[in-house]
Amino acid sequence: MALDRKPAPNDLNAFWMPFTSNRQFKKAPRMLVGAKDMHYTTADGRQILDGTAGLWCCNAGHCRPKITEAVQRQVAELDYAPAFQMGHPIAFELANRLIDIAPEGMAHVFYTNSGSESVETALKLAIAYHRAKGDGARTRLIGRERGYHGVNFGGISVGGIVSNRKAFGTLLAGVDHLPHTHLPGQNDFTRGQPEHGANLADELERIVALHGAETIAAVIVEPMAGSTGVLLPPKGYLERLRAITRKHGILLIFDEVITGFGRLGSAFAAQHFGVVPDMITTAKGLTNGVIPMGAVMTTAEVHDAFMQGPEHMIELFHGYTYSGNPVAAAAGIATLDTYREEGLFERAHALAPYWEDALHALKGTRHVIDIRNMGLIGAVELEPIPGEPTKRAFSAFLKAYEKGILIRTTGDIIAMSPPLIIDKPQIDQLVGTLREVLEALD
Ligand SMILES: Cc1ncc(COP(=O)(O)O)c(C=O)c1O
Repeated sequence: MALDRKPAPNDLNAFWMPFTSNRQFKKAPRMLVGAKDMHYTTADGRQILDGTAGLWCCNAGHCRPKITEAVQRQVAELDYAPAFQMGHPIAFELANRLIDIAPEGMAHVFYTNSGSESVETALKLAIAYHRAKGDGARTRLIGRERGYHGVNFGGISVGGIVSNRKAFGTLLAGVDHLPHTHLPGQNDFTRGQPEHGANLADELERIVALHGAETIAAVIVEPMAGSTGVLLPPKGYLERLRAITRKHGILLIFDEVITGFGRLGSAFAAQHFGVVPDMITTAKGLTNGVIPMGAVMTTAEVHDAFMQGPEHMIELFHGYTYSGNPVAAAAGIATLDTYREEGLFERAHALAPYWEDALHALKGTRHVIDIRNMGLIGAVELEPIPGEPTKRAFSAFLKAYEKGILIRTTGDIIAMSPPLIIDKPQIDQLVGTLREVLEALD
């Protein structure tokens, strides 16, 4: 009997897909079976130009030989080793390599397996840091409306994307939110950082006045909000957040899960904007998406606060079975090598003006109400179909896939973040195909 009920290997029912309209997908699956450099291969043998670096993670493109070989070598040499009370050299090597390219002041690396876990780690570190310094009342966490910090309870509590929060109960207590920085009507079709909205950082003063600085552990923001539809920080905004947090002894965490590893043309957005936080969360581009891995970078001040008490005692009761996994670490080192040897961060920086011009040439295309960009990231916002939000952008996504390009949608916003190896003709193809799709769309 039980045998009869076993699904066939190609049955799509058992896999409950993440962030997917499962019923729609399973009626008309979009299956990727191969990838190389800028392209995916579909099950029906078509080449799809990757306009999203997978999920903002394959910054060096796909199946890059150096990374593939490093993973193959490492998995055959030391497949797994615990990082609790034991070590293996490659995790230390990667940590040093990360600090080499990190903003000035970042001194330590705590490994996780994803962006969500990096966020949970950073939030816990913030609260525990203040406690270690004898400031145990500082437990509040401040996020921002429309922020995306992964899907775990801490991340959705400080996050501000309503659909990611509303089904999941009361979330963490003691959380407040800054207003988002999206100002339609004031900053439309801005190239790079918008002019208006730096004053929105001053809302932090209001939150501090409401709760008392002595109760607030940290503020977490994406320096450039990606998943909510590419919202750039207004000029001067991040500087003000830094000044206010510093003034009140509040830690500032930049969630750089998307902006890390060259997306804006520097290793990290903190360097691009010239604003250095106390902690940086990363994942995705750390291993080029090849093996799951995340990392939180902290200043020496944060780390050193924990290094007290008897030396045989564990200083931080936190960590994951796969923290610093050797195969992931090997992928990380080979990824950093690839970025450096191919000058990919510099390449992103150099291509950014071409990307910007190509994207903004979509102004005037049917349904387009705003375009935003920075580095090799861009968003095209569409006028929603009245009463049917998200439907128009989703239709564009499906049509784009049929026409050979992979884009991403969030709400009625199309977001694009191609691998940093994209060339100019491929940018033209991506944007040109998107134009055709939008012009033909209801
Ligand atoms: C800013 C930010 N933080 C956290 C995450 C969560 O990362 P993961 O999906 O690896 O848990 C993401 C994912 O897109 C992100 O963009």
